[in-house]
Formats: sequence, C-alpha cells, structure tokens
Amino acid sequence: MSENTSSSHKAAHKAATHIVIVGHVDHGKSTLIGRLLHDTGNLQDGKITQIIESSKKRGLKIEWSFLLDSLQIERDQGVTVDSTRMPFRLNEREFVIVDAPGHRQFLRNMITGAADAEAAVLVVDASEGAREQTRRHAMLLHLIGIRHIIVLLNKVDLLDFNQERIHHVQKEVEALLSKLDLKAEVFVPASAWEGDNISQKSNHMPWYAGPTLTEALSQVPLPTPRVDLPLRLPVQDVYRFDNKRYVVGRIERGCVYVGDTLVIGAQKTPARVASIETWHTPPRTSASAGQSIALILEPDVIPDRGDLLHTSQTPPMEASRLKARLFWLRKEPLRVGETFRLRLATAEHTVTVSSILSVVNLDDLTERPDIEVPPEGFAEVILSASGTIQFDPFTPGTTDGRGVLVDRQQRIVGGAPIIGPAEIKIGDKSVHPTLSAITSKDRAKIKGHKGGVFWLTGLSAAGKTTLARAVENYLFTQHVDVCVLDGDTLRAGLCHDLGFSEKDRTENVRRTAEVARLLQDIGHVVLVTLISPLRSDRDLARRIIGDSFKEIFIDADLTLCEQRDPKGLYAAARAGKISHFTGIDAPYEVPSSPALHIQTGHGTIQSHAMKLAKFIEENVLLEDIFCKRP
Ligand code: ADX
Repeated sequence: MSENTSSSHKAAHKAATHIVIVGHVDHGKSTLIGRLLHDTGNLQDGKITQIIESSKKRGLKIEWSFLLDSLQIERDQGVTVDSTRMPFRLNEREFVIVDAPGHRQFLRNMITGAADAEAAVLVVDASEGAREQTRRHAMLLHLIGIRHIIVLLNKVDLLDFNQERIHHVQKEVEALLSKLDLKAEVFVPASAWEGDNISQKSNHMPWYAGPTLTEALSQVPLPTPRVDLPLRLPVQDVYRFDNKRYVVGRIERGCVYVGDTLVIGAQKTPARVASIETWHTPPRTSASAGQSIALILEPDVIPDRGDLLHTSQTPPMEASRLKARLFWLRKEPLRVGETFRLRLATAEHTVTVSSILSVVNLDDLTERPDIEVPPEGFAEVILSASGTIQFDPFTPGTTDGRGVLVDRQQRIVGGAPIIGPAEIKIGDKSVHPTLSAITSKDRAKIKGHKGGVFWLTGLSAAGKTTLARAVENYLFTQHVDVCVLDGDTLRAGLCHDLGFSEKDRTENVRRTAEVARLLQDIGHVVLVTLISPLRSDRDLARRIIGDSFKEIFIDADLTLCEQRDPKGLYAAARAGKISHFTGIDAPYEVPSSPALHIQTGHGTIQSHAMKLAKFIEENVLLEDIFCKRP
C-alpha cells in the first residue's frame, strides 16, 4: 500500500463517528443532548450561563433542552439543510451528534446521506414505552441499515428506578426491534434530566451492571476503512484544458494507481490511468477512497457523468430491474407506473416503478401487498430501467446503493436503497407500465378543467343513468371532456363475463374504477353509474382512483324504485326469475358520508341535474377552483 493510502487509512480511523439521535417527540431527546454535551465537558462556559439564566427566569431547574436553541447550528446549504450537527469529544475520540428538528427533514437527510451515521441512540420514555414515532424511527434505522443501536430508556426516575418495570419496557422495545430484524447493542436505563447513567453511573440502580451512555458510545465500532474494497470511482465531470482531458470524481472505495487498467461504465471501454492529479499538488502515483481526483486516461476516451470506473476483475452488479426499499416522501401516494429519475452516486437513470412488492403497516410493522404506497410510507418496490444500471447493493453507512428518487421538478420524492437485482422469475408478470410525459397540469391548462371521477351509487331505477346522461349533455355544451361509464353498458362489453355475485360485483367495480382512472388521468370528467352496493367495493374504487373520487348518492327508496321499475326487473325479481337482485335478495349499503346526496323522490330531473353539474364544475373547472363561486 502506498504512503498516500496508509495516511488516508489513518484519517479514516480518526474521522468523527456520527451518531444519530432519534425518538418520539417529548421522549427527552433534546434534554439528553444538552445533558450529554454538558456532562462530557463539551459546552463552552458562555452557553452554560445562558442556559442557567433562561432556566432561572422561568423558575425552572436547568432546562437542558434550551441548549439546542442556543447552539450554533451548522447549516451547509444544499446538503445538510435542516440537520443539526453537534461535534463532541469523548476522551480522544471525536463524535458528531446528528439531530434534525422535524420528522420529514430527518427522513430527507437520512436519504441524501446528510445524516449518515454509524450508530443510533433511540430514546424511549420508559414511563410511556414505544410510540408511533418510535416505530417509524426504528423502521428507518432498519431501512437505512444502521446496525449499531443503543436504546436509552429515559425518565426511569418516573418508574422509581424499578428494575422490573424498566425490564418490562425493555422487553417491549426488544420485541418491536426484533420485528424489524434489529437488535440493540445495549439498553441503558437513564434519566437525562437527573444525569443518571449518562456519563456518571447512577446510584439509584445498583442492579444495573451495563455501561453508561458515554461508555456505550465509546464502544461503537470505528467505520471500516473503504480503501480495501474494489475500486469505485463515479465520474463527476470531464474537463478539457491545456489540450488534456481530465476525468474528475471522488473515489467512493478502493484505490487507484497510475498504470492501472480500468473499465468505464456499462459500455466497459478499457482505459489506462496515465496520471492522477489533484488541485495545487504535484501529480501522484495513487489515490484512495474519500479523495477527489482528476485522471488522465489513455486512450483519450470521454466517459459520461455517472459512469462508474472500476477494474475488470471486480465489476459492480448490473441489472435493468432493481429491487429497492423505499421510503416515500411525496404528499401524494405512489402508484405503479410512475416514472422518476434514480440518482445513484453521480449517475441518473430514468426508472419506472413496475411493481409494489409490499407496503409496511406502521401500526404493527407487518408487510402486505398493496396497490399504492401512502405518503411517508415504507415499501419494497421494483424499479425498471430501459438500459443497464451498474450498482453495488446498499451497504449501511456508505454511498453504495444509496438511491434517491427525484421527480421532474428535481424534488426528492423518496429514498430508494437498492437491495439487488430483481430477477424475472417463472410466472412473473414483468410488466413495464409507462406514464405519459404530458402532466395532468399540462392537460388541464389546455382544456380549462381537471379530470375527475364522480361515482353515482344507488339502487336500480334510482335515477343514476338518467341524471348522468343529462349532466353529460350539459357539460358537453360547456366544452368539458365528459363521458359516462354506465353499469348496463359496461356489462354488455368489458364486463360481459360477470354476474351479480358479490365477487363478480367487486370485479365489476374494480374494472370500472381502473377505466375511470385511466380516463381521469388523461383529463376526462368521468361519471360512473354503478349500483356498487357494498361500501367495501366503493372504498376499493376510491383507492384505485385517488383523491378526485367523489361519491354521489342517488337516493330513492326501494318502494319508489319498485314502482318506477322501468326495465321490469323488480317484478321479475319478486317473481323469482332473477336472483341476487339488489334491494330484494341482495343488500344495498347506504353511503355514510357521500360528497353529494341527491334525493330523486322529489324535485325535477332538471333541478337534480343542475345540482350535480354545479358540484362537478366546482370541482373541475379551473376558474372555479381558483375563484370559488359565492
Ligand atoms: S353492480 O351491483 O355490479 O354495481 P351494475 O350497476 O353494474 O351493478 O348493474 C346493475 C344493472 O344490471 C341494473 O341496473 C339492472 O339493469 C341489471 N341487473 C340485472 N340483474 C341484476 C341484479 N341481480 N341486481 C342488480 N342489477 C341487475
């Protein structure tokens, strides 16, 4: 190993250990940080005075959490926005506490690597036990792959330092972590407020033989040096001056030597390293992980930004379908078929979410298949690209496989650590849905209205189709792209194979909802007229269609519908010629809170139609959305 390499090796050892502190709001995170910095002598005197003064003014004991407000917060715009980093020292070892003021920012920072950490302290209020955010944070530690976890059972003074009660909470947290394949290195019963077991051993818990928090932190293993791994140099840029071409990037792992033969990207063009240069220093013979360098290659090939330089003996993985763990940050749910840019180191690839394998239920941390990932949800998905993507599977605490999804506006919408290639298995559907490049906004601007689905439910002969057709005519005259998906019409074609069993009705609703969604996505106003008698089926439609789904109850009681009986079906059902007829020998579940309720027992068709049309216009016309009618 060259001189350069071994010195950087040492530098890696000396680098500060990043510790992320997470915990449910009010479980004592801020107090802990204040106490920790104070008790380890990492506070400047001025700060302490400030805290003591402001605490006194409020007539309080020293309020350690005020410290966080008074601390200088390092904000490195663009990368560590919103994260707070507090350096501190334990004996000779440097640490950095990474904190983030809000849950969303925390997620964002974890994803982008701004909050990269070797270990985590999970703060749990022992008097309350694990809470919703405790589960979320544990989930995140699992996804981001932080393996070294210290659980701080805080506020044990509130449990009178009682061993049995503290063990009870410990068991609860252990069970929660084990559901996520996580295991805490140690559980430290402590009181951040009183200072028990933070840096001083508590006198109140003679039964506890484990480490204090600072002892536990000292035991966090040092990051493994990345110089011994196969070379990965993602190309950041290519410059040309003085008639030379410089290939610039930061070595993510391994070493490179002058004279090495490297291969470039998925195209695997070979090239020899003619020279290794860095700013303002003489050319060098080698460079290693963590260093930013410029290479001159022979022959003078021109790599693209994002190409991975590596050796032919130790190539990265390659695949066009990738399995990723996902944490989803957009306010709207994620659906199969959506397209994003996947950022992997310096590379960007266009990928489509071709499958949602499972979504985590945050209440009990179980996983189940679903058709969408909810906002702030966690899932396992398959991303498909049209070409080959080179990657190393996600390794906790490193940049390997740390994918980030960005939308067309360059906003980060999710973290997507790449677990590995998603092989196509026998029987896999392997579909590659695509989404139109024309956005709903583009379409709405041209048409003057948005798409939307207005789902008319009610008994047969309640007046759904009559009303829908009247409104269709009216909206058409208003230049609205409108159409009706009518039960009887669909059953004559798309759904001709379906009868009226519950199973078939569910399938009828599902198909109709999927068609309605497609039409809505291309900007149509869709009126659906299905009896859709079951609430669960209408909920299914709502899930498929999304927020624009509006349930409209066309209400006429059974007696009236039977009197109307325009198709003679009620009479036939009474006579036993038709079975499973809604209202006769099959149920109808009334909507509990429809967006609009129209009673057709009184009033004219005209007045009902206008009421419905007005409701639709308010929801879809752009001028109506921006300046609501009085
Ligand atoms: S749904 O229950 O699956 O939503 P859908 O609206 O598609 O029903 O079809 C209802 C229409 O099918 C009725 O308007 C009626 O003309 C006809 N129909 C025939 N048999 C039945 C039945 N057993 N129950 C309800 N409607 C029936």
